Amino acid sequence: MTEVELKEKKRKVQDDVELVEKKKKHKKDKKSKKDKKEKKSKKEKKEKSSESVEKVVDASNDVAQNEDLLKVPQAEIDAFYKENEVTVEDPQKLNLRPLLSFSHVSLEGTIQKEISKFPKPTPIQAASWPYLLAGKDVIGVAETGSGKTFAFGVPAIHSLVSSSNKKDISVLVISPTRELASQIYDNLIILTDKVGLECCCIYGGVPKDEQRKQLRRSQVVVATPGRLLDLIQEGSVNLSKVQYLVLDEADRMLEKGFEEDIKNIIKETNGNRANRQTLMFTATWPKEVRELASTFMRDPVKVSIGNRDELTANKRITQIVEVVEPHTKERKLLDLLKKYQGGAKKNDKVLIFALYKKEAARVERNLRYNGYDVAAIHGDLSQQQRTQALNDFKQGKSSLLLATDVAARGLDIPNVKTVINLTFPLTVEDYVHRIGRTGRAGQTGVAHTLFTEQEKHLAGALVNVLNGANQPVPEDLIKFGTHTKKKEHGAYGAFYKDVDMTKKPKKITFD
Ligand SMILES: Nc1ncnc2c1ncn2[C@@H]1O[C@H](COP(=O)(O)OP(=O)(O)OP(=O)(O)O)[C@@H](O)[C@H]1O
Ligand SMILES: [Mg+2]
Repeated sequence: MTEVELKEKKRKVQDDVELVEKKKKHKKDKKSKKDKKEKKSKKEKKEKSSESVEKVVDASNDVAQNEDLLKVPQAEIDAFYKENEVTVEDPQKLNLRPLLSFSHVSLEGTIQKEISKFPKPTPIQAASWPYLLAGKDVIGVAETGSGKTFAFGVPAIHSLVSSSNKKDISVLVISPTRELASQIYDNLIILTDKVGLECCCIYGGVPKDEQRKQLRRSQVVVATPGRLLDLIQEGSVNLSKVQYLVLDEADRMLEKGFEEDIKNIIKETNGNRANRQTLMFTATWPKEVRELASTFMRDPVKVSIGNRDELTANKRITQIVEVVEPHTKERKLLDLLKKYQGGAKKNDKVLIFALYKKEAARVERNLRYNGYDVAAIHGDLSQQQRTQALNDFKQGKSSLLLATDVAARGLDIPNVKTVINLTFPLTVEDYVHRIGRTGRAGQTGVAHTLFTEQEKHLAGALVNVLNGANQPVPEDLIKFGTHTKKKEHGAYGAFYKDVDMTKKPKKITFD
């Protein structure tokens, strides 16, 4: 090889090495650029997501996470959760703090003043308001008489005050019975009146004309499904601007009898669930309705007070269950009235539940025959008679009310001392609601139940409720067996053994 050829080869080799190195460097540069880009986008994504969480929290900060609340030591918050058996299932992990006092929330002035007449928020109010005020969908499950009406009502009216739309119907509350709708209306109007908003109550059994007029000027509507659908169908009501939809007694509203009506009403509201805040409140939340509920809600936060998966009764109610022969019930009732209204107790309020309208009418006659001045409320009476009877009982003009399950849920009648179940209801959930007409807002009460062989398929579920509230379980009840009949169970059909006799209840406090 000549010297020239040798030089040429060396140069080529040199060139090749340079080229390989160049390629390597390029590859390295490209990789590091890519890494940097990925890192940057990851960082941005992280910032963005924490920003969106922050935003929601910020939005509620002023109102329901104020400085005073943020200063409370975590140990105090933890103790509150434990003492009140509060569980919050919060899919977005917002971790909003419960309001331990009314000073921890900054509501519109007159609403704040009105609600601060109570000593402090009840646990369901304390734990659900922060999420509601942050615009979240909420399922609220808490015992009977624990202030659920203001739990959903106060944030609804507060939000409406700060909303730009005060022309259309923005808040819609649905209730299963006329009497309950009317009671929710009485609660909400205290708030709406003070802030210049209009509230109306829509239910059947009374003329429609006045309701049509009221609907035209109201922003808040409380309604029973039947009459509301009637008015929707005739074009007297426009729900397309509803921002805040509440199903009170939500499990009842999602049962078969109401399911279609509810679907049809919800279709009429701000159809897309993303544009609407949806709330479901109740004291009993059976598994059977949970899936249907989720179809109307968007990432709901579930706030439960007390045992979250079992059916639980208010623990301040003394529950007495007596197993009797069916034909002795009405005589037994007279004995019970002597016990609960005899002598000095003659003005103590007693609420008697029968199951069927016909039974109620017969028992009413029998009680009158025996000298009792009894008021009655059931489906066969006119709306005016029903309203009159309930008002007389509420005001203490009559101290004895006989009712069917139309009065089982939600009614807040002051100072009912005793509930008597003359005939057991069709479900144990209804039993929990019925007895919940006593022992409200921190008071105590007695529920006396006559149980017969005809209801033995419910014995197991009733035993569970009694155990859960630390109440004595009569031997006669256990003799019926501890098989509970559920509406449905995937693996076992309708019947399966579901009673835990070893379970010990925890005490729950209510101030
Ligand atoms: N923060 C509070 N402190 C004390 N009492 C309250 C408070 N908020 C509401 N109450 C009162 O508690 C009573 C029961 O309230 P409410 O009817 O809302 O109970 P509920 O939880 O809806 O019961 P139910 O499950 O039977 O419908 C009412 O008389 C109400 O005025
Ligand atoms: Mg209620």
